[in-house]
Amino acid sequence: EASGAHDHGDALTAAEIGAPAIPVTALRTPDDSPGEVHAVQLTAARHDVTLASGDTVEAWGFGGDGVAGPELRVTEGELVEVTLVNHDIDDGVTLHWHGYDVPNGEDGVAGVTQDSVAPGDRFTYRFTADQPGTYWYHTHQAASEGVRRGLYGMLVVEPEGGVAESLDLALPVHRIGGEVVIGATDGPQSFEAAEGEVVRLRVANTEQTPVRVTVAGAPFTVAAVDGRSLEGATEIERRSVRLGAGARADLVFTVPLNGARFETDLSEASVVAIAPAGASVGDLPRAVTDVPELDLLAYGGGERPELGPFTAEGTLVLDRMPRFLGGAPSYAYTVNGAVFPHVAPIEVREGDVVKVTVANRGFDVHPMHVHGHHVLVLSRDGVAATGAPLWLDTVDVRPGEVWELALVADNPGIWMDHCHDLEHAAQGMMMTLAYD
Ligand code: C2O
Ligand code: CU
Repeated sequence: EASGAHDHGDALTAAEIGAPAIPVTALRTPDDSPGEVHAVQLTAARHDVTLASGDTVEAWGFGGDGVAGPELRVTEGELVEVTLVNHDIDDGVTLHWHGYDVPNGEDGVAGVTQDSVAPGDRFTYRFTADQPGTYWYHTHQAASEGVRRGLYGMLVVEPEGGVAESLDLALPVHRIGGEVVIGATDGPQSFEAAEGEVVRLRVANTEQTPVRVTVAGAPFTVAAVDGRSLEGATEIERRSVRLGAGARADLVFTVPLNGARFETDLSEASVVAIAPAGASVGDLPRAVTDVPELDLLAYGGGERPELGPFTAEGTLVLDRMPRFLGGAPSYAYTVNGAVFPHVAPIEVREGDVVKVTVANRGFDVHPMHVHGHHVLVLSRDGVAATGAPLWLDTVDVRPGEVWELALVADNPGIWMDHCHDLEHAAQGMMMTLAYD
């Protein structure tokens, strides 16, 4: 029984046991954590949410009145201890830490790393906050419906020395009941910030489809993607940033006199204004639909890591095939011509540097997500990445595209790789990467 392994006692701090301070980056297992314990309980329950339109939808949530679950904001070095309680989600529930490379037992994949948590049951997750950045959490049991109904929230790991920006917002972008929900609520929102104040907007796409985002009214940098800082990020203006399903970006900008506005291409109504008192950002022209997309492969700079030579290789050909279940036509979403669990895993050993090629032969976008690891983007469609090293956990592969990626096998376990259009995942587009 998986939860038995989680009954370890309270961790002692380094000071209490008289040990020298251990660099937290050297830790992989929570038991060695020298940090403070950051304990939270999340209760999964059904609840009705009334949208700004007046419509009521049946949402499933982790607490709070809104759609998204509470933001978990922890500090580097802390031991994160989250107790998941299932109140009344009949399908069961788990917590997966999307983009956070936890030890395998904490990964929250029902049927792989644990059993799903049934109504009335609980499960405690523990991991050390050693990877500062922007992540999110969501259920990984019947995830297509569960995430869509609201079983998700933001996870922010602040760096040890604190965040440099004076306003730090974490906003998931989601859709429910036909409305766009940014943060916990739909409809326009505003935050007050003084002119000259620096803002970090951590955006997560918790949708099933790609979302383009921008800041209107102020130049901004894309300071991080998928929880990893981008070296040499430079200011851009009138550009949109495309986020595949599951991806995150941190947008940093200085508040101008007239304020700035965060926009998505999903809705004209759901904008987030960040402005000094009395400023009106309503006059800013709508930007996101008119501006070109930033190419992250050529953005930023810095040294590119020398990872080679490659010691293993894997190819994922993504496609769609018609299938007939009881006469109703539907699609199977395939990897190398097969559906999960019939997709052959990539064979790797711990320590391998793996070259992964992903080719999309179909007509749908496939945001491929790898658990427990980040991949370094080498090239897209034969064009080498030239910008800052781009480490992603979710690679948005458009129809016809071929991406070359490098993965370092440094986190043993059984890890899912799947399309984060969770309907595609449910229809077969999943596989595992397993090594010990
Ligand atoms: Cu965000 Cu396997 O999922
Ligand atoms: Cu897909």
